[in-house]
Amino acid sequence: MSIYLNNARITVPHIRQRKGHEKIVCLTAYSTPIARLLDPLVDVLLVGDSVGMVVHGMPTTIGVTLEMMIMHGQAVVRGATRALVVVDLPFGSYERSKEQAYDNAVRVMRETGCHAVKLEVNEYMAETVEFLVKRGVPVMGHIGLRPQSVNADGGFKIKGRLKTEREQIVKEAHQLADAGAFAIVVEGVLEELAREITLAVCVPTIGIGASRTCDGQILVVDDMLGLFERTPKFVRSYGTLREHIQHAVALYASDVKSGAFPTSAECYQC
Ligand code: KIV
Repeated sequence: MSIYLNNARITVPHIRQRKGHEKIVCLTAYSTPIARLLDPLVDVLLVGDSVGMVVHGMPTTIGVTLEMMIMHGQAVVRGATRALVVVDLPFGSYERSKEQAYDNAVRVMRETGCHAVKLEVNEYMAETVEFLVKRGVPVMGHIGLRPQSVNADGGFKIKGRLKTEREQIVKEAHQLADAGAFAIVVEGVLEELAREITLAVCVPTIGIGASRTCDGQILVVDDMLGLFERTPKFVRSYGTLREHIQHAVALYASDVKSGAFPTSAECYQC
């Protein structure tokens, strides 16, 4: 069987073993060219349902469908030979029952070729995670600020200010690890809570807006590259792509208007 495996590929066990040894570098990706660029540099490529907001201009992730995740998952898998590719299960595709979650997770893995799925979980979802893991579906959990709960929460709100909330999130982290999740994304929680979770569970925590105390970090790639007018407050900017794009398009427009634009068919062929 091993002849079919790509030896250079980062696997689920590799990620789990990083706990306490080596930080895990993760970014989102939604397309083949971006996946190709990121693949040699990161450990995990997440096809996040943030694709709905970042690529499709939706106000939240609620409108993202399984078909959208499969299409973007296929694109990213085509561009990745080294990184572990994880695809988000979108809102409404896994909450109804563990059987629904299993069927849709299998569909995503089969149709995209990704290596794991991510689920936003609360205490009621631990049973579902265990059901998937026991049937060979690697699961990355997502706790703290859960964007798919934006309507229930009344917005994208930082978690862990209240003692009861902190206790609840730590409980969910324990349940997820016990259910067999190989890593846990911890989003939008205060540093003290992120540290507590990271120390408490035996699987790696991947932070987003959750401090450096986590075992790894993830960002939405478009945010860290500065593709939008406003970068979220917790994101350190590593680029100003928006300005580069505006500059390049302004040059192009000026070439077209001044007639400097090459129009001959010979150029088309070379
Ligand atoms: O959808 C997403 O991109 C995510 C992360 C950024 C963690 O869930």
